[in-house]
Amino acid sequence: MSLDLKTDCATMDQRAQDILRGNDRGGFTVPTNGLYPYQFNWDSVFAAWGFARIDLVRAWEEIEKLFDGQWPNGMVPHIVFRQYDPDYFPGPDVWGCTHAPVITSGISQPPVAASCVTRLYAMDPELGQAKVAVLMPKLLRWHRWFIEWRQSGGAICVHHPWESGRDNAADWDGAMAAITPGDVGNYTRRDTAHVNPAMRPTDEDYDRFLYLVQRARRLGWDEVRLAEDAPFRVADPGMTFVLLRANRDLEQLAGIVGHPTEEIAGWTRMLEKGAAGLWNADLGAYDSRDVLTGAFSNALGSTSYLCWYAGLTDDRMVPALERTLRDVRYPMPSLDPGDGRFDSLRYWRGPTWAPVNALVGLGLQECGPPGTGEQLRKKTAQMIASHGFAEYFDPRDGTSAGGGTFTWTAAVWLAWASPSAREVA
Ligand code: GLC
Repeated sequence: MSLDLKTDCATMDQRAQDILRGNDRGGFTVPTNGLYPYQFNWDSVFAAWGFARIDLVRAWEEIEKLFDGQWPNGMVPHIVFRQYDPDYFPGPDVWGCTHAPVITSGISQPPVAASCVTRLYAMDPELGQAKVAVLMPKLLRWHRWFIEWRQSGGAICVHHPWESGRDNAADWDGAMAAITPGDVGNYTRRDTAHVNPAMRPTDEDYDRFLYLVQRARRLGWDEVRLAEDAPFRVADPGMTFVLLRANRDLEQLAGIVGHPTEEIAGWTRMLEKGAAGLWNADLGAYDSRDVLTGAFSNALGSTSYLCWYAGLTDDRMVPALERTLRDVRYPMPSLDPGDGRFDSLRYWRGPTWAPVNALVGLGLQECGPPGTGEQLRKKTAQMIASHGFAEYFDPRDGTSAGGGTFTWTAAVWLAWASPSAREVA
């Protein structure tokens, strides 16, 4: 189906707005009703970017509410629970985190917030000035937390697969297999009651996910104790590129509010060095690396293509980029279809996700090979227009998967993919 720009675009824009408003729970959004009934970190930032098209004050509010969950050590958690909802597992009772004024999870997520704040500011500097002044120290503390507790050789590591935002990606297979979860007790997954289990992580994954949460809870979520004999520590190009970009944007924000930039600039240099260390020459791509064993994951995923977004113009990634844009109907697959572990509908083991496409696309539009960013934007628009505002999509034919009426897919439509969004991208 080809998109009739004049009529379909207006209808799609309206539907996307309705989804954002429908998932609004009073100043913050949930990713989708039922499956994810809480505020999630990077989902909210994408929501803010989408809201910025229709209501800039509401966009700022989304980010402000996310920081309600910030811990005294600077960490901004991946879930802000606020209240208990029996529809979601593992809920606040499992995490046991009472470190912030609101109840949260105990791990973080890709730090896209500073980059979004830069965009919101640019849309209305007069409104943005006071907002940036309040958010600047919070963003700074969060970035510092990453450098202090999640950095190895300049690259950013995850201590739980959920921290990456890509729960069951092939990147974690080796490190996950090395974990013996033991007895994690009886529990009932809630995700598989909402969507087809074939589209979700396996039960073996879940035992390990829970084991890591239970261990951290036992150690009081104390980063010093957690770092000793950490059972899972994987350096991730996705996190490294996102923080590198966010850090460049943070430096710009610091300039706006007259905050010193030396510390931030130092982090940028450190992250550039760390990113370089994630180049896997055998794979011909940036790759995640198990810090405990030194082994690469040999997984070419969509976040490997975030190098341009991070401001690194790397011609070595061009062959894989061109092949993927040419051969995959709806790029960027979360795992390369040529990989034996590719599973077209299983979450982060193959499907295409609109928010990652938006970041990759922005990077390509800014400094990638000419035309590639626009190509990805158009294909993403076509995918959403033809298959709806799903959580994610089969890269081979666009089949929609996971939850429906999804906040970040609607937000990415409004902010980047929609033909009407081009002038603000
Ligand atoms: C899943 C995704 C994660 C996202 C969350 C809410 O856990 O892997 O990236 O933040 O759902 O949408």
